[in-house]
Amino acid sequence: MESYEVDYCCFSVVVYVFNFVIVLCYSRAMNLIHKLMHLFLPPLILLTSSFTLSLVILFNFIYSFLRPALPIENMTGKVALITGASSGIGEHIAYEYAKKGASLVLVARRENSLREVARKAVQLGSPDVLAVPADVSKVHECKKFVEEAVNHFGRLDHLVCNAGIISFCAFEDITGIGNFTPLMDINFWGSIYTTSFAIPHLKKTKGKIIANASSSGWLISPTLSLYGASKAAVINFYERLRKELEPDVKVTIAALGFIESEMSQGKHLDNEGVVKVNQEMRDVSIGILPILSVGKCAESIVNKACRGERYVIEPPWFKVLILIQFLCPTLLEWAVHFLYVTKSGTPVTNARNKKILDAIGGKKFLYPSSILSSQIKKD
Ligand SMILES: NC(=O)c1ccc[n+]([C@@H]2O[C@H](COP(=O)([O-])OP(=O)(O)OC[C@H]3O[C@@H](n4cnc5c(N)ncnc54)[C@H](OP(=O)(O)O)[C@@H]3O)[C@@H](O)[C@H]2O)c1
Repeated sequence: MESYEVDYCCFSVVVYVFNFVIVLCYSRAMNLIHKLMHLFLPPLILLTSSFTLSLVILFNFIYSFLRPALPIENMTGKVALITGASSGIGEHIAYEYAKKGASLVLVARRENSLREVARKAVQLGSPDVLAVPADVSKVHECKKFVEEAVNHFGRLDHLVCNAGIISFCAFEDITGIGNFTPLMDINFWGSIYTTSFAIPHLKKTKGKIIANASSSGWLISPTLSLYGASKAAVINFYERLRKELEPDVKVTIAALGFIESEMSQGKHLDNEGVVKVNQEMRDVSIGILPILSVGKCAESIVNKACRGERYVIEPPWFKVLILIQFLCPTLLEWAVHFLYVTKSGTPVTNARNKKILDAIGGKKFLYPSSILSSQIKKD
């Protein structure tokens, strides 16, 4: 072997050993960093977050007293577009904007109900109301109604993405899974399409987007798994969008508990994916949780949106459930298991949530009388 070949071999071995030592040190260092983070980060975060959490709670407590005195956007001469305005929360949001003197664009599929809401909104003080029958799950219809709104009024100030549907059923009981895509098409895509076409107009007016999500986007809720997933997507999307649009356009996310509406009357997609009104399944899902009046909920949403608040949680005590979900999910899982989970082979209608509701006659004092009827608006 030539001497230069020997030198080359030695050099390669040295380089190889050097690399090996570097990689070894590097991976040891990486492991050490991970071990240190595992050891010190959780207690550090716990300590600092318990301190900041107490500050946040104190701030929110003081803020709740100051809120009524804070400046609120004057809606006179401004335009609000509300999807899902033919019934329930959307209908009452329309009335709240009307009382503030805003012009309205109302969207939903049931035309006659929409016109009835428009008529009442004018009586309450809205100078002009445009009722546009449309399906928010169809992208071209969303483009059309946003254009119609801007052509008619020349501006858009508030966009309320409220249209939605629900399904009350255990996932295992679903027999027509292919029929459940409307949950995402309406709840998620319906809001996204509308938002996408409205953003250029909202930027011109430094407007606001109000996304009506649901606390079930955060809280574990059996029988609402697909609905909850669609609302989790809504929350996640608008939290990111808020960062992209601020400060030009503000985003308010409503994460509601149970509210008086056609949904809480029991209108939902059944286990075959067909729209039905079934109050027994409603009782299983809502059970002993009190339902808030729709007027109070809509008033809070519109006032908080006009103040540019980031979240609306109604009824307010739901904040505690959300806090428990994040701080101690096991506690909530235990309560949910107790209330909802039935023995294998037993129908969900045997859930303790419904049994306790029936035993204490809870519907009389936990539910508004309007949702005891299974009659919903027909078109
Ligand atoms: N009620 C509650 O307890 C509760 C709790 C948390 C969150 N929410 C959310 O609040 C929103 C409003 O629901 P609600 O409780 O007021 O129930 P609701 O009375 O059933 O109202 C739903 C509204 O959405 C409209 N809608 C449904 N599908 C549509 C589509 N494809 N295109 C256009 N509009 C459509 C309905 O009108 P048409 O049928 O005429 O189209 C109706 O106006 C929903 O997003 C819901 O998820 C409700």
